[in-house]
Amino acid sequence: LAPVRLATDYERRNTWFVRLTKPAELLQPSPLTGFDRYPEIFEFVRGCIGQQPGLRLLSFGCSTGEEAFSLLHYLPAATVRGLDINRLSVWTSIRRARAAHQPRPSFAVAGSARAEPDDHYDAVFAMAVFRHGGLSYSDEVSCDRWMKFEAFERGVAELARCLKPGGLLAIQHSNFRFCDTETARFFDPVFRLPGGNFHPQAPLFGPDNLRLPVEGYGDVVFQKRMSDTAE
Ligand SMILES: C[S@@+](CC[C@H](N)C(=O)[O-])C[C@H]1O[C@@H](n2cnc3c(N)ncnc32)[C@H](O)[C@@H]1O
Repeated sequence: LAPVRLATDYERRNTWFVRLTKPAELLQPSPLTGFDRYPEIFEFVRGCIGQQPGLRLLSFGCSTGEEAFSLLHYLPAATVRGLDINRLSVWTSIRRARAAHQPRPSFAVAGSARAEPDDHYDAVFAMAVFRHGGLSYSDEVSCDRWMKFEAFERGVAELARCLKPGGLLAIQHSNFRFCDTETARFFDPVFRLPGGNFHPQAPLFGPDNLRLPVEGYGDVVFQKRMSDTAE
């Protein structure tokens, strides 16, 4: 029965694949995704930048492509790129894009935004990627067995680099708070989800990888300052 499940259940198959291939920069192994998963955030971003010509959007940790296609639904004139560390997921995304009408996103295998150009994107989305399923609903005191703050710090620094001044960085379902990073000094929070945004699947940890005594972190969209002066 197990091989049949692997063949038919993309979540099991793609998680199994990424665990087997063990890419060094792996964060969240689960590829769980869906269309229009973050409507309030997508709507907010459209409201901020939707009138600008030549928009470029990045879905970091795009899994099998649903997020990138959802972004095109909100902003049909944008150029959308999806990156994911899981080759199997990216192959699915590319197959989907080939079968779709224009406009369609482009996809690539990557474990960071290192290869993306400086000051390039108008908005970058890092949704459910800086978290680990092993910490879901757990009462672990430290996260370092699963994922370390330094990986988050490095990851968001790369995302910030490829964002234009004035561009938007959206981070949702993370085990870490953007406000605890060095990079946050160059950004202003611009959108908060109501209700504190607490999710038991994403308990929060600090720069020392220890559990924070807070449950929710409502800020989810941050704007890069026009000049690189830190606060
Ligand atoms: C839970 S899925 C989230 C998919 C989508 N962003 C969403 O929220 O619906 C997490 C994705 O992050 C990817 N991922 C994990 N580590 C990564 C890394 N270092 N670089 C790029 N993608 C990564 C996984 O392969 C997986 O597809």
